Amino acid sequence: MGFNFIPSRIPSTVVLFCLCVNLLVGSGIATFKLPENVTVPAVIAFGDSILDQGNNNYIPTFIRANFPPYGANFLGEKATGRFTNAKTPVDLIAELINVKEYVPPYLDPFIEDQDLITGVSFASGATGLDPLTSTINMVIPMVDQLEMFENYIRKLDVLVGKTEANNIINNSLFLVATGSDDFVDDYFTYPMRKIQYDVSSYVNFLVSEASTFIQGLHGLGARRVVVLSLPPVGCMPTSITVGGGKNRSCSTMHNKAAKLFNKKLSSELQSLRSRNPPVKVVLADIYTPFLDVVNNPQSYGFEIVDRGCCGTGKVEVSWMCNVLGPTCSNSSKYLFWDSFHPTEKGYRIIVDYLLERYANDVLSL
Ligand SMILES: *[C@@H]1O[C@H](CO)[C@@H](O)[C@H](O)[C@H]1NC(C)=O
Ligand SMILES: *[C@@H]1O[C@H](CO)[C@@H](O)[C@H](O)[C@H]1NC(C)=O
Ligand SMILES: *[C@@H]1O[C@H](CO)[C@@H](O)[C@H](O)[C@H]1NC(C)=O
Ligand SMILES: *[C@@H]1O[C@H](CO)[C@@H](O)[C@H](O)[C@H]1NC(C)=O
Repeated sequence: MGFNFIPSRIPSTVVLFCLCVNLLVGSGIATFKLPENVTVPAVIAFGDSILDQGNNNYIPTFIRANFPPYGANFLGEKATGRFTNAKTPVDLIAELINVKEYVPPYLDPFIEDQDLITGVSFASGATGLDPLTSTINMVIPMVDQLEMFENYIRKLDVLVGKTEANNIINNSLFLVATGSDDFVDDYFTYPMRKIQYDVSSYVNFLVSEASTFIQGLHGLGARRVVVLSLPPVGCMPTSITVGGGKNRSCSTMHNKAAKLFNKKLSSELQSLRSRNPPVKVVLADIYTPFLDVVNNPQSYGFEIVDRGCCGTGKVEVSWMCNVLGPTCSNSSKYLFWDSFHPTEKGYRIIVDYLLERYANDVLSL
């Protein structure tokens, strides 16, 4: 806990109790209502595979998801590059706040004008705040995503005129999810950063990179910004395989790092927000609901939370998750689709929680 954007401090037992109840009653997603008189013209996303809608299909990297079984439950088994079985959190959020059903990747060469106007994703699977992470994975660094966004704004100016383009950027919902890969497939996997940094100083480095990114985004006109906290990355099946022992419990070292990162980023964003009053930037705590699902799978209709649906479920991500291996017969029983990414069902639970907790605050501008 300790996410300072939660307005009041409620004893954690109460919060945990409410979580289950809310989420169960509240597949209440259908009941989500925008605040009065609020309009959101577009949803725009940055970050890693949680929000990558297929950008990695268009760059030379191995980290992709544009082949089966990815997309097994998406528009008739369409593998689009989304790293899950169906919709990602960007799609779900855009759908739930009535912007559109599917958010396209910015790099799609056939992207239509209307899609640009209602929002795109710049996210690139396996990128991170640490520039080394995107280098290792040969994917789009966060700074390049900001440059793509500038390029997008110029296109928007031409399409709808400067005033309307300003208006769109001014009122759009911005989503940012990044940092998991810095720990999972950089710091805890390769020795380079461990030689230079202990966990605490690595966290400081990442938080400073995140702060620079958010300030850059704000500088380009973004006001309504939701930054997703790290999930309990130690509970991802790959981390369990590395650090979870024989019983396959969550890896403590990964989770401790994620909690420290979330705590420090939360106070950094709070201070950014107080220095730039017309900006609503929040760190949305997805750690808490995610861990609740891991600890109480049955309450959410899951049977298996320690491995993914794809392959053995213990190591397969991206190219390793393919039709040469087995795929589970019913992914609704699984929190994880592959060994790193939740199923759409898992994402829906998190998104539901997120909208309920943070949307009113961020959109009340
Ligand atoms: C919403 O807009 C209507 C019409 O302009 C106005 O009467 C009403 O007070 C507004 N509500 C809020 C909460 O601002
Ligand atoms: C953004 O919208 C707010 C509220 O509608 C308005 O006060 C502000 O002037 C707008 N800023 C820009 C740059 O359009
Ligand atoms: C693994 O689970 C068994 C049975 O529940 C338990 O006895 C054992 O202590 C656990 N081992 C570890 C390392 O947690
Ligand atoms: C798949 O699993 C879910 C959740 O356990 C269950 O509700 C559903 O009936 C299952 N579907 C099939 C086809 O077995």
